[in-house]
Amino acid sequence: MNADVPWDEFNPADYISHNYRSVLPADAEIIAIVRDHFSDHFRRFPGRQVRGIDVGAGANLYPALAMLPWCEEITLLDRSSQNVDYLLGQLDSYDANWDAFWLSLCQKDGYAAYPHNPRERFKQIVRVEQGDLFHLAGQEGRWTLGTMFFVAESISSSETEFEQAIKCFFHYLEPGAPFAAAFMEESEGYEVGGRNFPACNVRREQIHSALESYTRGLKTSSVGEQDQDKVRDGYTSMIVACGYRCT
Ligand SMILES: C[S@@+](CC[C@H](N)C(=O)[O-])C[C@H]1O[C@@H](n2cnc3c(N)ncnc32)[C@H](O)[C@@H]1O
Repeated sequence: MNADVPWDEFNPADYISHNYRSVLPADAEIIAIVRDHFSDHFRRFPGRQVRGIDVGAGANLYPALAMLPWCEEITLLDRSSQNVDYLLGQLDSYDANWDAFWLSLCQKDGYAAYPHNPRERFKQIVRVEQGDLFHLAGQEGRWTLGTMFFVAESISSSETEFEQAIKCFFHYLEPGAPFAAAFMEESEGYEVGGRNFPACNVRREQIHSALESYTRGLKTSSVGEQDQDKVRDGYTSMIVACGYRCT
């Protein structure tokens, strides 16, 4: 169960050095899909500023960077104290490794034409919250843009908790809110800093159907199937899902 896992022992430095020192091919594909989804949506609403949330942000800033141009406020929610400390330490001036992720986003106008310095803007609008995604009482529909990357399937081996995490994510989003989510397909769990963390072994069709009843315009894509150097052992591909919270 998620509550039994020692999340405070999650080592962000090890996780970053394994996953986010540079933009790996699978992340480049994910970034392209998410960037196009968000910029195509917000192009229709010039000047609109929304409230974004990245659920289970961990030590990954690129979902927040993908939301940055359209947000007046971004919440990074995570349960682990080490990850929360990492995120708080990024607020003043995030580390140089994230510049390459921002550059990948800048292949689309919505980001390239962004009038602010992303580092300064990140500092102004991002807030970090330590919390449990399963227990955010009273926050229904509070956010108008959302991301959840490698969380629902990577926080427990329980299929019920996988489905519950997806339900909670959409519960926090306002009807009509654009979202992006990413998943490891058929993951057998993963190791961070010598600690093993659980995963729920789900296939693309299961992920798609778990999302379907909360969404409209849902598109799921597989990325990274051909990568020779998989980020982690024990998974087949990554799945990225984009769409809108249904009304
Ligand atoms: C595999 S990591 C994914 C991190 C990041 N989103 C990424 O894209 O790499 C899973 C994250 O979920 C967080 N987490 C686990 N259980 C949680 C819960 N109940 N509520 C909020 N965050 C949780 C962990 O601390 C960890 O940061």
